[in-house]
Amino acid sequence: MYKPVLVTGASSGIGEAAAVALARKGYRIFAGARRLEKLKSLEGLGQGGITAVELDVTDEGSIDAAFSAIEAEAGPVYGVVNNAGVSVMGPLEEVPTNEWRRQFETNVFGVVAVCQRALPGMRAAGAGRIVNVGSLAGRIAAPFQGAYAASKHALEGLNDSLRREVEPFGVKVSLVRPGFINTPFGNQEQEGLERYAGKGHPYAAWLGKMKAWHAKGHPSGASPMDVAEKIVHAMAAERPNSRYTVPERYIPSLILRNTMPSALTDRAFARVIGVAGVKPPAAKAQ
Ligand SMILES: NC(=O)c1ccc[n+]([C@@H]2O[C@H](COP(=O)([O-])OP(=O)(O)OC[C@H]3O[C@@H](n4cnc5c(N)ncnc54)[C@H](OP(=O)(O)O)[C@@H]3O)[C@@H](O)[C@H]2O)c1
Repeated sequence: MYKPVLVTGASSGIGEAAAVALARKGYRIFAGARRLEKLKSLEGLGQGGITAVELDVTDEGSIDAAFSAIEAEAGPVYGVVNNAGVSVMGPLEEVPTNEWRRQFETNVFGVVAVCQRALPGMRAAGAGRIVNVGSLAGRIAAPFQGAYAASKHALEGLNDSLRREVEPFGVKVSLVRPGFINTPFGNQEQEGLERYAGKGHPYAAWLGKMKAWHAKGHPSGASPMDVAEKIVHAMAAERPNSRYTVPERYIPSLILRNTMPSALTDRAFARVIGVAGVKPPAAKAQ
């Protein structure tokens, strides 16, 4: 009776809000993440109900086990919200390549693996929904955000390909693109930047500014429920949008990004994050 939907990364922030909002709308929610104890507090909420399911999107065995458990309890999965995400921050020059890989394992390959497990059932049913949680960073890349921005740019691309591939099978794909949202996500970003902010790091002066800008951004950001509302629309509307930007006040920046010369957007960016005119320490003579 209630359509089964898996929400990944539902132990916190946007995923938790989406699980609650979708359950209220009447979906049978399976809330997935690694921290099962955090998910347990959501169980039973909403009309459709929420069931906690242990899930690590970087582990195909864990994905398969989660899907098998859902199918045994509620039948084929109707919808997936690919929300689980991490953020690796720091200067491209200094972030170790294994950290770049960790970034892509969760934000990109995790999404691919979940879609690969979900799609055969959706195609067989002739219906399904996939909602990918991207980021404004998937279109506008701040300095020291290269790994994260690259992962979300990749998600934009795979989202478009997938939408066009599976539409003939009745499967609809949307991307929800949040800007700053008030969740604990900023904590890991602050910790990441902290590693490169100390004395002796060549980028420390700019990076300190970026860190301060980011520290203000999340607490004053929109509510995760605002994002959840768009996720519900993408799941429930007969004709979901291919993209949702949350909050919508970011849309003009996206239009400018597409139309303004890069030299101008670079200058505007430097002003926004407060690095305009900040000079690096003089390079030592070789
Ligand atoms: N907050 C923002 O300002 C913002 C802006 C743009 C985009 N986003 C995107 O929104 C999504 C959710 O972010 P949020 O702000 O809600 O952050 P959050 O509160 O830190 O939540 C992140 C969620 O991802 C889960 N997760 C991380 N790695 C996982 C893995 N390997 N397998 C399964 N789950 C995993 C975490 O659960 P466990 O640790 O329990 O596994 C947690 O539930 C992310 O994709 C993020 O990139 C956020």
